Amino acid sequence: MTSAVDIKTLIFLGLLVFGLAAAKSAGAAEGPQTPINLRCEYLTNPLGIDVKLPRFFWVLAHSERGQKQTAYQVIVSTKPECEKGDAWDSGKASSAEFTHIIYKGKPLASDATYYWKVRYWDKDEKPSPYSEIAHFGTGLFSPDEWKGKWIGGANELRREFAVNGQVSRARVYICGLGYYELRVNGDKVGVNVLDPGWTTYDKRALYVAYDITRMLRSGANAVGVILGNGWFKNKALFLQINIELADGTKTSISSDETWNVANGPIVADSIYNGEVYDARLETAGWDRPGFNDKSWKKAEFVQGPKGVLSAQMMPPIRVMDTIVPLKMTNPQPGLYVFDMGQNSSGWARLRVSGPRGTEVKMRFAELLYDNGMLNQENLRNARAQDIYILKGEGEEVYEPRFTYHGFRYVELTGFPSVPTAETIRGRVVHTSVKQAGSFAASKPVLNGIQRIITWGQKTNLHSIPTDCNQRDERMGWMGDAQGTAEEALMNFDMAAFYTNFIRDIRDVQDDAGAVADTVPYVWGNPQADPAWGTAYPLLCWYMYQYYGDKRILEEQVEGLKKYVEFLRSKAENGLLKYSYYGDWVAVEKTPGSIVSSFYYYYDVKILADISKILENEKSAKAYSQLAEEIKAAFHKEYFDPQTGNYANGTQTANALALFLELAPGNARAKAWDNLFNNLAYKNNSHLTTGIIGTKYIMEVLTRFENSDLAYDIATQTTYPSWGYMIENGATTLWELWQKREGPSMNSHNHPMFGSVGSWLYKALAGINLDPRAVGFEKIRIEPQMVRDLFYASGSVDTLRGRVLSSWKRTEKNVSLEVIIPVGSEAEVVLPKFNLQNVVVKDSGKVFWAQKKLEPGVPGIIDVRETAQAVIIKTGSGTYSFDLTGN
Ligand code: BGC
Repeated sequence: MTSAVDIKTLIFLGLLVFGLAAAKSAGAAEGPQTPINLRCEYLTNPLGIDVKLPRFFWVLAHSERGQKQTAYQVIVSTKPECEKGDAWDSGKASSAEFTHIIYKGKPLASDATYYWKVRYWDKDEKPSPYSEIAHFGTGLFSPDEWKGKWIGGANELRREFAVNGQVSRARVYICGLGYYELRVNGDKVGVNVLDPGWTTYDKRALYVAYDITRMLRSGANAVGVILGNGWFKNKALFLQINIELADGTKTSISSDETWNVANGPIVADSIYNGEVYDARLETAGWDRPGFNDKSWKKAEFVQGPKGVLSAQMMPPIRVMDTIVPLKMTNPQPGLYVFDMGQNSSGWARLRVSGPRGTEVKMRFAELLYDNGMLNQENLRNARAQDIYILKGEGEEVYEPRFTYHGFRYVELTGFPSVPTAETIRGRVVHTSVKQAGSFAASKPVLNGIQRIITWGQKTNLHSIPTDCNQRDERMGWMGDAQGTAEEALMNFDMAAFYTNFIRDIRDVQDDAGAVADTVPYVWGNPQADPAWGTAYPLLCWYMYQYYGDKRILEEQVEGLKKYVEFLRSKAENGLLKYSYYGDWVAVEKTPGSIVSSFYYYYDVKILADISKILENEKSAKAYSQLAEEIKAAFHKEYFDPQTGNYANGTQTANALALFLELAPGNARAKAWDNLFNNLAYKNNSHLTTGIIGTKYIMEVLTRFENSDLAYDIATQTTYPSWGYMIENGATTLWELWQKREGPSMNSHNHPMFGSVGSWLYKALAGINLDPRAVGFEKIRIEPQMVRDLFYASGSVDTLRGRVLSSWKRTEKNVSLEVIIPVGSEAEVVLPKFNLQNVVVKDSGKVFWAQKKLEPGVPGIIDVRETAQAVIIKTGSGTYSFDLTGN
């Protein structure tokens, strides 16, 4: 018999052996490690891409600091094992690039699957192991490959078909407008909802690819599609299923006259007004083979969209989260109100049992009246209600399909009994961009701001960036889109989303070169306010700055030129004066013309810079010169030497001049003085800006070494401020600085004032793009350790990997943790405050003392000390810096 001691010893030995094995396997990962996060056209294993020369991306991993890639090998194969690059073998390609690697193999076939993997060589010429195998599918490259027609006639469409053999590959390509739900053999295909994305249908509609290989069976199969109105408002289906059998036979099923149609239980559906679902009209089994559809009509050919079909190459809208209500109240007999605790976008899932024909109504709102009743006044004409009529067969679970609401509260009436905690769930629905950033700090109001920004931002991503998600609007207002873009780029992975949206913008460009206020164009002016139209050049520019995307510049440069030439045609003597909204919803109004002229300069400047990048010297010179002319005209027109102000001296007017360095010499100092005095004294550290001024002012303050003042503004809790919104219960950003809850324009989920979000990352966490490179290849870590802030932390998952900056400070010490991705370099600015004789350590080891570098700390390239800071140049890796002094 084994004694207790023996067992303990055995366990100990076992753990030891296990520990050693673990240590050994960890040791095996020394040097260059398997590349991770493989992506194609910004997407992970996309199914239908219609780009013929797709770009590949991966992220490097390495056990050592200061590492980079010197060469890579990409293998693209038609075989899942991906052993040989029968489509492309890049060989050992000398390059430090691992983003935007353009496919250079055999021409890709349409409707095909490719497998790929990659390895890399580090700076010491050591190869990494190969990555795991990723894949991508191509869409239908040519219009003649589509065999079907646009069909419709009712909102449920079905067709049965036989498969004679074992299916080895089956792909569906579908465009169902306005929205569709695709079902095969009784099951919903995929997770997409409110699909496809909204586009200018006269120019383009998006199709979506699904792999249904495993859903088909040998014998009888059925495909069913439910159509909703969406933004198209004229239901139409275009579909093709391409099937390959194990014996090599290929067949296709497409949308044509062989389909049958009937109207199902969705009796009414509207994005603004909600859905009416009569469960008594359900026909069980309609999406399965063997269903008797004798009473169904033949499908009709209908007018489809006029535009081309393009692959949807962005993350779909999905149900992203489920919220358990905080509480249920009963302000009136038979009327219940559920509080989700969070303003959001989506709908409610209802659980109910009761008699057949019972009509249950859910109404949605952002606000309540003091008496606990729902306040829908600010929704204007959006009815925002879903009605469910019971079939009376035990527990019924309902979620709408073709509507969404912006809401925190759900009112329930007509419920056949007393609802319980299980009756309602909030379903959070938006485009499934990955969260890329995180930010936290020791001042609670800042965390509150981060929360209302990120909730507001993500719940306004509905295949396009929307202005709001609750009232009768929800449009791609371009001013809102450009205003929030940098914040969105820090918080979410926006690469594929903006790539799509930029194409959407191009689709609305008119012959004169103008783009519209809203994209797709519905409201506002077809020739946008310049502060709205600037979304076109600015988003392209940000795609280049944040993601290093040069292709988008190449693709859009002609459109951008047309746009700038349009502005030029409206300008006089270097000034662009027309304006509709300007510094929208400001407390103090700024003349629209200075805002428009500012953007005229900005857009021309961006075009000049893009021309330089694309090596079009002639264009670069011409637009640089034009920019100089505008700059001079701007100053001449708007600067008042008497007052030292630009235009009427609002915060916005002076901030605009300073942000783009439009104020020369002495004027700069005067405008700055005036801006400072206005903010600090006249307004007691409050903004009076609208969405335009707000976007630039915080950065101007930091640039002018006044982050303390910016921080005072950011942490205000009195009107007007972000903190004021939070104090008054905001869980998403408001449209207005003012607290309004009546029938006027006052959305409570409007991301446009969220531009401060990027300042939190840049200034407080200290994560900055270094202007000497794009796409975070060079990073500047420069946290502003302001006032009573003693801790801030931010991280951003860039295309090159995670960047992190996290600091803490006490009287005598500053510590800063930094992560720099493999293949990037950073300049880290560690403030000294007033400390003398500073010593800097990394993970406990001194490397800077008496103003001298002590060698031996890997990854540290160079250090210098100024009166204010110790500046450390590092390669990749994780660092734990600690600065002390006396
Ligand atoms: C929208 C705004 C938009 C503005 C333009 C409003 O109705 O909600 O966010 O930018 O109109 O004036």
